[in-house]
Amino acid sequence: MGSTIIGTGSYLPEKILTNADLEKMVDTSDEWIVTRTGIKERRICSENMSSSDLGVEAAKKAILDAGISADEIEMIICATITSDMPFPSTACIIQSKLGLDNIACFDISSACSGFIYGLELARSFTNNGCYRKILVIAAECMSRVTDYTDRSTCVLLGDGAAAAIVSHSGDTDGIIDSYLGSSGKYGNLLYIPAGGSKLPASHETVSNHLHFMKMEGSAVFKIAVNAMSSAIKKIFERNNIHAEDISLLIPHQANIRIIQGVARSMGVPMEKVFVNIEKYGNMSAASVGVALDEAVKAGRIHKGDLVCMVSFGAGLTWASNLIRWNKDD
Ligand code: ACO
Repeated sequence: MGSTIIGTGSYLPEKILTNADLEKMVDTSDEWIVTRTGIKERRICSENMSSSDLGVEAAKKAILDAGISADEIEMIICATITSDMPFPSTACIIQSKLGLDNIACFDISSACSGFIYGLELARSFTNNGCYRKILVIAAECMSRVTDYTDRSTCVLLGDGAAAAIVSHSGDTDGIIDSYLGSSGKYGNLLYIPAGGSKLPASHETVSNHLHFMKMEGSAVFKIAVNAMSSAIKKIFERNNIHAEDISLLIPHQANIRIIQGVARSMGVPMEKVFVNIEKYGNMSAASVGVALDEAVKAGRIHKGDLVCMVSFGAGLTWASNLIRWNKDD
């Protein structure tokens, strides 16, 4: 008995925000952004779109890729920190937009780790056959919580969505194992101060820019490298896997220097690391999902390959998983 990914999809809005565009908005330079982060451009969703719209487009592609009919889906899990509204859940909104009814739908809030958390939840639900097919979505409109007067965060973030269909399977390949971790004591390093029950929206919260993401970048950077390396180490150890057994490492795309630091500390050569940060920046939960879909579509993952995904984000949270890819090319 096991759980496997039978289809993936992703959606990136058309509008591109380049480093040259940002040079006109804040005191920054293409040279600083590329050298310090590896990002050249990011996607920004149009005014009439929200996270659920991005998620629906990614979901439609995953359903098509899986070769199933939408009404076979028994549960929708949506990972997002930029939900359409406080409630109902973005998963319920996506359910309605997909024309589905009467299935379990809920959101999870694990920031950049959300897609791997969602895959692990789907694995738990499908492993024993209680649920047969689950749609996992990561959808983020990070541009809606970005302060475009704050050069230390606005150069990093972008919008996008990814989806995967997780299915019950008769064999033990597929999603083999996941490791999930968090440390709430670091919550104040990366957060949005207002808009929740602690500090509801007011004229003051708006004028003080408190509905935007705040981050202690260099503190987060150091913890990110350690937490991601340790998450990979833990999942390798308990599955008796070594770096050379991995066909592809798919890390969260927050900063090329974080990715290189993690690869170096794990002894994984950069040729075996999937990187698309230059095109999209950090799309929070959507980053590893989009990377997985692009890696599959680009022929970087084949049947039988062992793939390791790893992520890190607000919470602070971190997560890794091991997937023996068993979908035909
Ligand atoms: N352009 C030019 N200069 C800048 C910019 C910019 N866009 N941003 C910051 N600087 C300046 C700073 O003001 C500082 O100047 P000073 O020395 O005169 O004070 C200098 O550059 C160095 O600043 P640092 O913050 O130390 O720069 P650092 O090398 O750490 O890079 C960065 C900053 C890119 C934010 C990095 O710390 C990072 O990537 N952090 C981790 C981000 C991350 O992983 N987030 C988690 C996921 S997000 C989520 O979960 C939603």
